[in-house]
Amino acid sequence: MNEIKVTLADQLKQKPLAEQLEFGRIFTDHMFIMDYTAGKGWHDARIIPYQPLVLDPAAIVFHYGQTVFEGMKAYETPEGKVRLFRPEKNMQRLNKSNDRLCIPQIDEKLALSAIKKLISIDKEWVPSAEGTSLYIRPFVISTEPYLGVAPSKNYQFIVILAPVGAYYKEGINPVKIAVENQFVRAVAGGTGEAKTAGNYASSLKAQELVADKGYAQVLWLDGLEKKYIEEVGSMNVFFKIDGEIITPALNGSILEGVTRNSVISLLKHWGYPVNERKITMDEVYQAHKNGTLEEAFGSGTAAVISPIGELAWRGENIVINESKTGFVSKQLYGILTGIQTGKEEDPFNWTVEI
Ligand code: COI
Repeated sequence: MNEIKVTLADQLKQKPLAEQLEFGRIFTDHMFIMDYTAGKGWHDARIIPYQPLVLDPAAIVFHYGQTVFEGMKAYETPEGKVRLFRPEKNMQRLNKSNDRLCIPQIDEKLALSAIKKLISIDKEWVPSAEGTSLYIRPFVISTEPYLGVAPSKNYQFIVILAPVGAYYKEGINPVKIAVENQFVRAVAGGTGEAKTAGNYASSLKAQELVADKGYAQVLWLDGLEKKYIEEVGSMNVFFKIDGEIITPALNGSILEGVTRNSVISLLKHWGYPVNERKITMDEVYQAHKNGTLEEAFGSGTAAVISPIGELAWRGENIVINESKTGFVSKQLYGILTGIQTGKEEDPFNWTVEI
């Protein structure tokens, strides 16, 4: 196995106060980096002080976006230990995204032990206040200087850490989401189920157009008929209609969220009728009209459980549960974060202590 060399920072940065934490603006003292060279494979695994990268301006990542990323979190337990949540799932998904983007596979065990080592070096950065965590961003970039459209011969796998608070400025309060009618995020056979930069870059325009009207994000419909609900981009979505909890079935263009999967398991464990199936925006609208749309929420690593208080669609505002956090969202948020932070029993053995 590739041994991890460690070079510690001479000077440590000042840690933020819990109330200063937003999402993704502050980074810890160290980072992990490993190189890939064609013919040699992955090599030179190292932890070094957090620093800028030096890359050739012709590096493929800048031009053709051959890059993937992951999002995971570490939490402090009441005993002062640090835990990860289902990290092996993120490593599997990283390699799935790598495959889609023609990036060489990474040794999942090595990547996970690198992440654990990096966090133990920067463990003072794991925040403990309610609603905070240490966000982990592993990513791969293609570094070969070449302007031809072809898979790169060289890559870097990098992991950075960021102490974070809530992803949305609304915190755990309901967000307003606009259903997107003009643009599409992904189509089956495209890159929608991979965690790659282009999916997010192409979502910016739609998001920008609704942001000044107070919408936190857009809800993407399928790319073909603009009829079926897909995902929000930063989270998967769930609807509770007449007692049934529905989330769009994975179809190749929806990201396979680790939190989505955990939510489904928890709901089933609690005995809720939960279905992964196709759901149209029209079905949600009809349920709103006949009074059976009980709740809606998003799930994601960054977003955790985010209640949806309002959906804007075809000029109408669909207000859900009087824009209040619903019972299921509250229950899921409490238990999920409780499991993640070691405050609740972990019936599925999801957490991994560092
Ligand atoms: C995550 O939830 O970790 C994500 O990757 C979503 C992100 C774009 C903030």
